[in-house]
Amino acid sequence: MKTWLFSAAILLAMVPAAAQQPVKVGVVAPFSGVAADFGKQMQAGMEAFFKLHGDTFAGRRIELLIRDTGGPNPEVAKRLAQELVTRDKVDFLAGFGFTPEALAAAPVATEAKKPMVVMNAATSIVTARSPYIVRFSMTLPQVSAPMATWAAKNGIKNVYTLVTDYAPGIDAEKQFKATFEAAGGKVVGSVRTPLRNPEFAPYVQRIKDAKPDAVFIFVPAGEQSVAFMKAFEERGLKEAGIRLIATGDLTDDDVLQSMGEPVLGVISSHHYSAAHDSPENRAFVKAFHAVAKDLPRPNFMAVGGYDGMAAIADVVKKLGNDIDGDKAIEILRHEKMTSPRGPIEIDPATRDIVQTVYIRKVEKRGDQYLNIEFDKFPDVKDPGKK
Ligand code: PHB
Repeated sequence: MKTWLFSAAILLAMVPAAAQQPVKVGVVAPFSGVAADFGKQMQAGMEAFFKLHGDTFAGRRIELLIRDTGGPNPEVAKRLAQELVTRDKVDFLAGFGFTPEALAAAPVATEAKKPMVVMNAATSIVTARSPYIVRFSMTLPQVSAPMATWAAKNGIKNVYTLVTDYAPGIDAEKQFKATFEAAGGKVVGSVRTPLRNPEFAPYVQRIKDAKPDAVFIFVPAGEQSVAFMKAFEERGLKEAGIRLIATGDLTDDDVLQSMGEPVLGVISSHHYSAAHDSPENRAFVKAFHAVAKDLPRPNFMAVGGYDGMAAIADVVKKLGNDIDGDKAIEILRHEKMTSPRGPIEIDPATRDIVQTVYIRKVEKRGDQYLNIEFDKFPDVKDPGKK
């Protein structure tokens, strides 16, 4: 008995100390306030990944350290990222819903040499702010260019643009205009609305008075999408014959159902729809519902969480007890996989995502409002980087 205990102790001592230690992923995003669902969707996406593939790779369990910015709140995001690397000693930073929060945390990733896996923040510039950033979401130019191409090909000749007045909105406005005008269309007016508490009605009225063929919209998903649709409906733009085209942030699956009738027929371009028809997506949606009882359905931030976690798991599988920032980013920037959204890969030169962008129309199936994909642009790189 004694000898047995003795040799067990020796055996245990021989196991490298890190073998039993979890891999820590610090998740920085809003989990409270107006954008609470940004964080909740990403977390549910990550947990859906665990549900389907387990949470332990190379003997190491992946542990999420959830940190709420209550944002958009760049200063808080930076402080939380700092605490995660210095005090909690995380192996990865992840999450990041709002561009200003990702930009604020970027220098922390660089200094600590920690991979920072972006699951939403979608301004083109984000990945250029640190060599440790890799993005598994989208960029606004990447989804806006296909919308412009589609509009020009489908009888829309002049467009008024409305975007939120911060980096991703400006990215969307500029790319839409560049692509649409290169294809022969004309942007006849542009407005930018405030990031905090916008009152859309006066802007929407101005657009109605200008009588464009269509209005192109980017607002951050969630609360603002709902508020914009309400103003669009109340001011009677549909009846005035003004078509609504947008990035899929407007027809966000997280809030689509609550928009009701007025959203029917809205055309949008995006990288993910909960209604995407593939075996991978069906499995994902099912796992999502099993882990996220209080969310209506996965949105694009959930799929960003799922794919970002798939990439982190791949690093853990390959590096095991030897996770180091430089080795990790080397693996991350070569990721290629079949996502619930379709095929994706990371462009090693920019660490940004290359993916299919879908054109979708909101349709009602039974009592469900869904983004139904009907056209697609494969292998789209971020045009903002040319
Ligand atoms: C961003 O801040 O980058 C952002 C936020 C919400 C979106 C898209 C982009 O829906």
